[in-house]
Amino acid sequence: MHISQEQAIMFQGGRVIDPYCDRDEVADVIVVDGTIAAKAPANIKIINATGWIIAPGFLDMHVHLREPGQTDKETIETGSQAAAAGGFTAVACMPNTQPCMDTPDVITQVIVQGRAANHCAVYPIAAITENRAGRVLVDFRALKDAGAVAFSDDGVGVEDDSVMRAAFERARQVGAPLIQHCEYKKMSDGGIMHLGKVSQQLGFPGLDPRSEEAMIERDIDLCRQIGSHYHVAHISTAKAVELVRKAKAEGLPVTAEVCTHHLILTDEACKSASPNTKMHPPLRPKADVAACREGLLDGTIDCVVTDHAPHTEKEKGVGFPKAPPGIVGLETAISLAARAMIDTGLADWKKVVRWFTTAPNEILGTVDRGIEVGKTANLTMIDPQATWKVDKHTFLSKGRNTPFDGWDLVGKPVGTLRGVQLTLSLTRQGNHNKTVTR
Ligand code: NCD
Ligand code: ZN
Repeated sequence: MHISQEQAIMFQGGRVIDPYCDRDEVADVIVVDGTIAAKAPANIKIINATGWIIAPGFLDMHVHLREPGQTDKETIETGSQAAAAGGFTAVACMPNTQPCMDTPDVITQVIVQGRAANHCAVYPIAAITENRAGRVLVDFRALKDAGAVAFSDDGVGVEDDSVMRAAFERARQVGAPLIQHCEYKKMSDGGIMHLGKVSQQLGFPGLDPRSEEAMIERDIDLCRQIGSHYHVAHISTAKAVELVRKAKAEGLPVTAEVCTHHLILTDEACKSASPNTKMHPPLRPKADVAACREGLLDGTIDCVVTDHAPHTEKEKGVGFPKAPPGIVGLETAISLAARAMIDTGLADWKKVVRWFTTAPNEILGTVDRGIEVGKTANLTMIDPQATWKVDKHTFLSKGRNTPFDGWDLVGKPVGTLRGVQLTLSLTRQGNHNKTVTR
């Protein structure tokens, strides 16, 4: 990865896709002193962007940066560097750290370290309950004031009805979204993969999909009563998508995200018994994957995320049943989203850009920046025709836990620009060995 400071830079002849102002045209983008400008000064650095997409900076609203506490898995430095390499100018990070992000001090620490790393914006998501234990609510106001953009106990769901009801009330008072990891442990406990035909064939204990659906159902009910923004994390079943579709039709403030892997892989992948096919929620059958794609297309699901969950090789290397759940995603996300939604003919780049820009920014209420003269530059550059092979050893993340190692993908992020800071993924240049038409 190559990082430089650019006082004046022009991306020449790229396809500018900007959902903030419904723009899709070939144009030059000029940035002077970190701000989008109308005119190019003398001595401007010119980057040939022919064939590239120039989009507003991408946001991944569900990542695990593991810091504080689990720096053998990832750090804010390595995780945000991986994000930039993957084409993201911003990430929102989950609070299942050690200590948990349930106090203003930890939130402040994450913000300070994110700024010091300076690879992308880092937005912390605070826990809903102390130590994510599901019992005592955090101080919503203090955490929001410290800079938390949302609240979630991700890794676990808030099971207790009265605690969740009170959380809705607090979230409404401070005007922040509640992001639920939907899973009733009492229904899923002991399960290591999706409960179904494949788990039976493999003889693996199954994880009941109703554990996800039942919690969404309960939460939508609370949302209807209390009327505060509710966001479903990593939605993964057809029924779950249908529940959100109905809630939206009712006009409830409900949103949802889907992970790239749930748009591509099915539980058949678990037949490999690779620990890198184990994650929460688990990989589901084909009909659920189809429903997630459909949900994205019709707007039921708002955005695409990675649920980037790095674990060490040692932790993952203990076999499927015992391995911790989760896979890394930041450095493959954009290509995988294209694989699931564009290569299949279902969507175009305009939609993909929206799922990573306007949609998650609207949910979190975070920076809202189109490519307009006078605005601070915040750009993601993609080469939609480049082909490349995933090689986990080149990841800037500390995590190597991906089921996509060795996959041939089309479309890759080539860089980001944040203000004056240009990050180019030079490691991936030279991969232009094949061109496909899109
Ligand atoms: C997440 C992690 O490792 O932090 N793992 C995962 O499989 N998604 C936590 C979680 O959501 O279970
Ligand atoms: Zn989760």
